[in-house]
Amino acid sequence: MGKITDILKSMDYGPSPEASDAVRGWLATHKAGFGPFIGGAFAAPGALFDVHDPSTGETIARVTQGTAADIDAAVAAARAAQPGWAGLSGHERAKYLYALARLTQKRERFLAVLESLDNGKPIRETRDIDIPLVARHFYHHAGWASLIASEFPGARAVGVCGQIIPWNFPLLMLAWKVAPALACGNTVVLKPAEYTPLTALAFAEICVEAGLPPGVVNIVTGDGETGAALAAHEGVDKVAFTGSTEVGRLIRRATAGTGKKLSLELGGKSPFIVFDDADLDSAVEGVVDGIFFNQGQVCCAGSRLLVAESIEARFVARLKTRMGGLTIGAPLDKSTDIGAIVSPEQLQRIERLVEAGRAEGAEIFQAGRAKGCFYPPTLALGVEPANILAREEVFGPVLAAMTFRTPDDAVALANNTRFGLAASVWTENLNRAYEVASRLKAGVVWINSTNLFDAGAAFGGYRESGFGREGGREGLAEYLVLAELPRVPATSANAAAMSAAPGPAPAASGIDRTAKMYIGGKQARPDGGASYAVLDPEGRAVGHAGLGSRKDIRNAVEAATKAAGWAGATAHNRAQVLYYIAENLSARALEFAERLRAMTGADGAAEVEAAIRRLFFYAGFADKYDGAVRATQKKFVTLAMNEPFGVMGIVCPDEAPLLALVSLVAPAIAMGNAVVAVASAAHPLAATDFYSVLDTSDLPGGVVNIVTGDADALALTLAEHDSVDALWWVGPKAGEKRLEEASAGNLKSTWMLGEGVDWARAEGREFLRRACQIKTIWTPYGE
Ligand code: NAI
Ligand code: MG
Repeated sequence: MGKITDILKSMDYGPSPEASDAVRGWLATHKAGFGPFIGGAFAAPGALFDVHDPSTGETIARVTQGTAADIDAAVAAARAAQPGWAGLSGHERAKYLYALARLTQKRERFLAVLESLDNGKPIRETRDIDIPLVARHFYHHAGWASLIASEFPGARAVGVCGQIIPWNFPLLMLAWKVAPALACGNTVVLKPAEYTPLTALAFAEICVEAGLPPGVVNIVTGDGETGAALAAHEGVDKVAFTGSTEVGRLIRRATAGTGKKLSLELGGKSPFIVFDDADLDSAVEGVVDGIFFNQGQVCCAGSRLLVAESIEARFVARLKTRMGGLTIGAPLDKSTDIGAIVSPEQLQRIERLVEAGRAEGAEIFQAGRAKGCFYPPTLALGVEPANILAREEVFGPVLAAMTFRTPDDAVALANNTRFGLAASVWTENLNRAYEVASRLKAGVVWINSTNLFDAGAAFGGYRESGFGREGGREGLAEYLVLAELPRVPATSANAAAMSAAPGPAPAASGIDRTAKMYIGGKQARPDGGASYAVLDPEGRAVGHAGLGSRKDIRNAVEAATKAAGWAGATAHNRAQVLYYIAENLSARALEFAERLRAMTGADGAAEVEAAIRRLFFYAGFADKYDGAVRATQKKFVTLAMNEPFGVMGIVCPDEAPLLALVSLVAPAIAMGNAVVAVASAAHPLAATDFYSVLDTSDLPGGVVNIVTGDADALALTLAEHDSVDALWWVGPKAGEKRLEEASAGNLKSTWMLGEGVDWARAEGREFLRRACQIKTIWTPYGE
């Protein structure tokens, strides 16, 4: 050690390693290798693979490559345990979750060291962030366990959950998955990432210590193959995944049409926006947290710096200086800021992407050098929007900087990505901050802050960052069956309607009027010019409808996209329009009733009356299904905003052709979405008549578009369309697989409502919930 005067000169920190004896002792007792944890005990180890400390390359443990048979056994154990677990009172489950929280907290130091050793992240982060948040998550959900019955009346557990997690926050991601699942009465099979399985195995021991009933938590280690076997397993009712968008897509396809509940938390390329009036020193600290925290291996990392042109030079200069002050070093050293990259493969990926970015014109600045499995903090300047560093998730300490001139520019640049996980906005002007936050396509927006998480706040993405939320009340909804839709037994009338699929128009029908479709607020003829006969129950033509094609759907989606201003209308305004639609429908009730009776033979008057009621119901809700303020961290206001998806595709059934259309479209537009609705194929005229009601009700053009024709084919085009953000489909189970597979392209949210919905009773919050995605906005207060 140098003299004090030397230290004062350099102001260097000396080494300050955290002791790892306890962890190494524990690893020594498992020297023979870890088996999977199934039914409350560790099974004998199978084929083993090595687990490394990435900072040294040293092998620290060996764990089992879980096989399909292991997954079978784990799912069977979870299945056997599930009824008993769900059958406990909420209070009983709360006590177990509370015990898990307490034990995690008691072992905080042990778990922090183990996590650091396995992942390579600095001990300061595992000790101060990861593990405390793990405990917080279990406490929070112990609370929910007591409250589920009263707060979610009528809801039930989903069943057995397959959960697949990544390596960047190993134990924290476990907590995010396991705690809400257990609180709701589910049992789980969890597969940790192959690079970082150890804290999950330590958690298995905590489950034993807490006396958790065997089979409630099962942990099977292994790689992607093990994960794939879990996601595809028939005994799994829900899949929750965090990881790359690429694998997210595979899982979307693997679960398509199975009816499994699915939540995906995927990649990001989150903007970090600094306006000219930002507090620059705080913003520089924010950048450090945003992109260098956990070596940038964070799905919501602020990896694109968008800085106002007028302050760019000053900001970048300060940032470079600050980057030079970051200490790269041993993860277990308490003064380390930047630890190891999780694996040599990940390091190579970072190197490859940075070199590609450089080749595409970025100027690369790096602070310090790094040997071994480390990567220095890196700033890429002069990055064009098309540069790979501006587009691809690097998952490393690499920041791509760009400039903007106006707030509009900033928003456009920020949204110029296929992802939508998070965003950070820096300005001292609160009006501007909220204006920008409202326009960002991102599930989480941090104002003058970054990378904040809490068990009580929803986290999750828009667009290709996935769907579903983790944390808080919204997160619980992913682990509950909230409300079953009311069903009627399939009637023969329905069956007849189904078989009346669109065919060529009979030549001698004698009726020449062909109902138009409705696109962008205007009547539209089908692009192909073809039409089909609409038949009554006796098979006689009662009219003709356009045979819509891919092109018509594309036109309708374009019109809906242009109608985005609807989302900005006040909720009161949207309510007024819905009331007005109801009023105009009521004025023409007789005509609609007659048309329905002619097409379906059913009591048209009752259906029209029910449709008017339904419009009133959602008009009433338009300004009441609102957001909330979540109790999260000290000195933060955390908002949960219900935001519309954007463009929704809605495919209507043949039953109740007017009422079903209204039941689906009304909640969607009440929440501010624009809709492309595919009318009942067999009875489309109720929908095509309906547009004339919409036309006279002050609904802006493009908010509701109606296309007629072969519903299956049109649905597929909607499912494939990258500008459609959510898809609702009512139809036979057999149609679901194809649509959900196609939806994987842009990872749109899907709701498959199934057949035989009792439209007379199908209304409620669930329709509104499904028409929204939550945006969480964090705002600090105080100086
Ligand atoms: P990954 O997505 O392959 O791994 C995440 C988890 O999924 C692991 O447990 C893995 O074993 C499992 N998995 C892999 N293939 C699977 C399959 N076919 N079916 C089911 N489970 C499967 O991520 P990886 O390969 O570790 O990292 C590659 C890149 O992905 C990173 O560089 C980063 O860009 C991104 N990534 C993003 C994460 C996020 O939280 N957004 C987390 C991890 C990686
Ligand atoms: Mg490791």
